[in-house]
Amino acid sequence: MGISISGRSFLTLLDYTPLEINYLLDMAAEFKRMKRTGIEHKLLPCKQIVLLFEKTSTRTRCAFEVAARDLGMGVTFLDPGSSQMGKKESLADTAKVLGRMYDGIEYRGYKQSVVEDLAKYSGVPVWNGLTDDFHPTQMLADMLTAKEEFGDIRGRKLTFFGDARNNVANSLMVVCSKLGVNFCACGPKELMPKDELVAKCREVAKETGAEIVLTDDIKVGAKDCDIVYTDIWLSMGEPAELWDERIKLLRPYQVNKELMAMAKPTAIFEHCLPSFHDRETTVGEEIYQKYGLEAMEVTDDVFLGNQARQFDEAENRMHTIKAVLYATLK
Ligand code: CP
Ligand code: NVA
Repeated sequence: MGISISGRSFLTLLDYTPLEINYLLDMAAEFKRMKRTGIEHKLLPCKQIVLLFEKTSTRTRCAFEVAARDLGMGVTFLDPGSSQMGKKESLADTAKVLGRMYDGIEYRGYKQSVVEDLAKYSGVPVWNGLTDDFHPTQMLADMLTAKEEFGDIRGRKLTFFGDARNNVANSLMVVCSKLGVNFCACGPKELMPKDELVAKCREVAKETGAEIVLTDDIKVGAKDCDIVYTDIWLSMGEPAELWDERIKLLRPYQVNKELMAMAKPTAIFEHCLPSFHDRETTVGEEIYQKYGLEAMEVTDDVFLGNQARQFDEAENRMHTIKAVLYATLK
């Protein structure tokens, strides 16, 4: 029987089987080929989708907008500053209204329960564009990028260095366990993923053969590593007062030339972006003035080096989100 995820929401990859995830990755690769060769694919011309953003975004918003337009769909963007959402109308009421007008809803915001409620109340597919807990569309781009590099990624090792309990790290642990990729969370003990999520992923990993390791030792994280991954040290929604503590905790986990040299020579570097790899941002400059750090989670030489794949990932956000839109709405 063929695989179908039509009508489903995309809230966390815990809800998806390895076969379904690979189905989306294969479809994304095909959409990428079509886009690159100029083959029009306006496959869903009568659909309308809405994008709700309670946090800021460059990649996710643009990826949804371009993917939807390439598929021939109409797109509306809403944020709390330009709609009734949150202040004058609850998320549940907003969901019920939007479900009457749109074929699908993207949501980026805080609690995972909000994206789940949107799916419950709207009656249409809802796609998680990042919550405090998970960032599942990012995972498809990261895995597609790894597949483009290595082909079969089963048995490869991905290590996340840094705040190993943030939305990206949590989601990497989930997707790696689903796809049989060995996952290592490398960071301070204070910033490790929750036991409950680790247990769920270990359960999945038993089926796929993936190994899940949590360590505070950089040598353990980097050894035999194929994909070196990092993310910013303070996520959206976390208070700026935490910078002090985070910098102290995470400085030893910075991805730099020395750390890359401990990984496999064929290793690639991945980052979901945005990144503080230099002083070319207001935050980057403020941190330099206060702490004397030229870069945070990754140094500029690694970011600009030949192992870096973060801009391939950024492009792949669009192709993979297109696959999610098409597969859930067709
Ligand atoms: N990686 C990512 O989600 O980027 P944006 O915050 O720009 O959407
Ligand atoms: N962990 C980051 C990811 C940004 C794409 C954040 O939530 O801000």
